[in-house]
Amino acid sequence: MTRSRLLLLLSLLPLLLATGSSPPATLRQAAEAAGLRVGTAVRPYALAEAAYSETLGREFNMLEPEDAMKWWTVRRNEGSFDFQQGDQIIRFAHAHDMKVRGHCLVWDHDNPKWLGAANFTPQHLSHLLQQHIATEMKHYAGQVFAWDVVNEAFEEHGKLKDSIWFNQPGIGFSGQGTAYIEQAFRWAHNADPKALLFYNEAEAEGMNPKSDAVYAMIKDFKHRGVPIDGVGLQLHISKLDFDADPIAKNIARLSALGIQVHVTELDVSLPVDPTGAIRGDDLRRQADIYRNVLHACLQNPGCTAIQTWGFTDKYSWIPFHSHGARGGALLFDKSYRPKPAYAAVLEELSSQAMRGH
Ligand code: XIL
Repeated sequence: MTRSRLLLLLSLLPLLLATGSSPPATLRQAAEAAGLRVGTAVRPYALAEAAYSETLGREFNMLEPEDAMKWWTVRRNEGSFDFQQGDQIIRFAHAHDMKVRGHCLVWDHDNPKWLGAANFTPQHLSHLLQQHIATEMKHYAGQVFAWDVVNEAFEEHGKLKDSIWFNQPGIGFSGQGTAYIEQAFRWAHNADPKALLFYNEAEAEGMNPKSDAVYAMIKDFKHRGVPIDGVGLQLHISKLDFDADPIAKNIARLSALGIQVHVTELDVSLPVDPTGAIRGDDLRRQADIYRNVLHACLQNPGCTAIQTWGFTDKYSWIPFHSHGARGGALLFDKSYRPKPAYAAVLEELSSQAMRGH
């Protein structure tokens, strides 16, 4: 058992004793008994809706702003920072005793238009990025326990993506491989030495050229003492013939490097017919996928948190992202009723708790 899991368990002993051997009634209780964080992405405007905030506070012990800490929200212009939306989420988390993951400081998406339009020099971009990382991380120091410092830096075949931060024009390390990522992690560590620093990636969850490239980078960083604590595996799943074994393998090799793994953006999108309906059979297959991903995480003590990308189908990025072709990706339906996937996750988490972690 890792030290963080042990500490979490100790802090939960009174709850465990109080609940005796009766099975946990919520994801949060089950996760706490299993020594795991269970989280979800959150939209600040939805917090005003009673069903949304009640479900969120009841079921999860961790959350992450879906968009509220990104450049496009925080940096409407070059000269100012707007933390209102992120602060609102932090207040909710504090009131409900939840941990907060921060997302994200370096990405080539979800940036404000002015950033790309101004044709900044590498020197200026370097200054801007360092200032951004320092200002945002210091603002949330002590409130955000883990940050996705860099998001989605690799292409499918394992090459680094062209981006404003890497080489278009970049922050001064163009042509030097992962050096710009290393610089971002060093700035992040200086800004908040206590925060856990994560590299977050999409479609690098199993064993493939992209996850090999991420693995090689983390191995190199650990070897040279670059401050990095974890890898986030996004896990936006759209294939219903999904195989979780390669994920367990990838989690095992990453945690063998001495880092934590968080599942950060899990959702399982389903085809939606023109009437908006989803097939019952698909809901059952979806439940199996959620269960299998969770199982892959629970098998390895290095996997310390599992998070879904939203929790109600009412607020999910999938319909928008797929132009309405897919949906139903989350644990609760649009009316906050738990779906078969919810029951599967609760059962898998509970069985882990019963096994004695
Ligand atoms: C998505 C959000 O869910 C949407 O609301 C937004 O319009 C675009 O970004 N990978 C990531 C997340 O790391 O930040 C993305 O979130 C989904 C893909």
